[in-house]
Amino acid sequence: MSVKALKGFKDIVPGEVETWQFIEQTARAIFHRFNLDEIKVPILEKTKLFVRSIGETTDIVEKEMYTFADRNGSSLTMRPEGTASVLRAYIENGLQSKKAVQKLYTIGPMFRHERPQKGRLRQFHQMSVEILGTDLPRVDAEVMAMAWLILKELGLSASLEINSLGCKKCRPAFNKALLDFLGKAENLCDDCLRRRETNPLRVLDCKSAHCQEQYEKAPSILDHICQSCADHFQAVKKGLDLLAVPYAVNSFMVRGLDYYTRTTFELVTDALGAQSAVGAGGRYDGLVAQLGGPDVPGIGFAMGMERLALLLDQQEGSVPVATPDLFVVALGEAAQEKGYALTHAARKAGLAAIMDLQDRSLKNQMKQAGKAMVRFALIMGEDELSNGKAVLRNMANREQQDISINDDVATWATELYSLVIQ
Ligand code: HAM
Repeated sequence: MSVKALKGFKDIVPGEVETWQFIEQTARAIFHRFNLDEIKVPILEKTKLFVRSIGETTDIVEKEMYTFADRNGSSLTMRPEGTASVLRAYIENGLQSKKAVQKLYTIGPMFRHERPQKGRLRQFHQMSVEILGTDLPRVDAEVMAMAWLILKELGLSASLEINSLGCKKCRPAFNKALLDFLGKAENLCDDCLRRRETNPLRVLDCKSAHCQEQYEKAPSILDHICQSCADHFQAVKKGLDLLAVPYAVNSFMVRGLDYYTRTTFELVTDALGAQSAVGAGGRYDGLVAQLGGPDVPGIGFAMGMERLALLLDQQEGSVPVATPDLFVVALGEAAQEKGYALTHAARKAGLAAIMDLQDRSLKNQMKQAGKAMVRFALIMGEDELSNGKAVLRNMANREQQDISINDDVATWATELYSLVIQ
C-alpha cells in the first residue's frame, strides 16, 4: 500500500502552486515598498518559548501544538505561529542595537493540531510581519494598511475589524467587570466555565450560540480601557482614516493568543465558511521583555496563505499565468542539434524556452506549443537550414516572419530576445 500524506498536511502541486507564487510575489513586493527586511527562523523551537508567549491557557498551547521529546529528552515544538520565533531571534541576535525600529517579515509553514476542514490545516502557511521598537499609533494604522494593500493587490476584499485590548494597567479592571458579569451568566458551556477560571477574556470567543447570546450584554472592553489606551486607539482610527482604510470597531474581538495589548485586528470574509479570518494581528507591547529581551513595544500580523489561495481560486482568472516565450520546433537531426544549442542560448539570454528533444512531427510539436501556451514558435527543418532562414510564428495572431539563422547561437538568441520580448 502506498504511503499517504498526513491528515491536514497538503501538497501544493503544479496548477495550484502558481496561485501561491502570485500571493508570495505580491506580498514580497509590498513588503519591499514598506521597507521591511526578511528574516528566516527555524521551524522547531524549545516548547517553553511558545508556552511563555502565546500563553499556557490558550487553545494553541493546551491542545494544538506538535510537541515531542527529542532524542536527548528536551521538549521541542513545531512552531504554531511565527511571532514568538521572530522575537526570540530579535533578542538572540541583538537586532535592537542594529536598528531602533526593526521592520521584519517572514513566510513559512506553521503547525497546529486542529480538526482539518476547509481553510484549516494542520500544516498551514503564514506571511507575517513584526515591527519592533515603536508604539506610535500611526505605525498600527500603517501595518493594517499594509495587510489591506496585500489583499487589494491580490484582487481580494475582506472587512477590517479592530479593537483595543488595553494594557496591563487597565486590563485587570476589565477582567473584574467581565468576571462579575460571568458570575451571573447562566448555563455556560463547559469550555466557558473552564475559561472563566483560567482566562476570562477568551470566553468572548466561544462558538456556542447560547453563550454568544448572553455575551451580547457583556461589558465592553472599550468602556474600561485607561485614558492613554483610549487616546492611542483614537489615534489609530484617525491614522486609518488618513490612509483611507475602511474598518469597523468590534469590541468583542479577542484574539486566541494571550500576548496582545492595545490594538488588535482581523481581516474577515464570509466567503470561506467557518474559517473567516484571512489575516489577523495586533500590538504586543511587553512581550519582548517577557521573553528576556529589551522592553521594546511591537506590533504585527499574519495572513493565512491557504485561505488567500482559496479566495483566489473562487475568482477565476485572478492569477496571472506565466507562459513560456518560445518553443523551438526543430525537425530532423541537423535542426535538432542547432535547436538544442539555440534553446540553451535563449535561456541564457533571458527567454523561457522549450523544445521537443524527440524530434516528433511538425504537427505534434505545434500541438505541444499550443498546449504550453507559448507566445512564439521558431520553426526550422532541413529546408530552412539550407536557405539560412527559419520561421518565427506569433502563436496569438498567427503572423509569421522569416528570420535569418545566425551561426552563432548566442547572437541569434539575443536577436530573438528583442523580437519576442517587445
Ligand atoms: P492567528 O490569528 O493565530 O495569529 O493566525 C493568523 C492567520 O493564520 C489566521 O487569520 C489564518 O488566516 C491563518 N491560520 C491560522 N490557523 C490556521 C490553520 N489551522 N489553517 C490555515 N490557516 C490558519 C497569529 O498566528 C499571530 N502570530 C499573528 C501576529 C503576528 N500577531 C502579531 N504578529
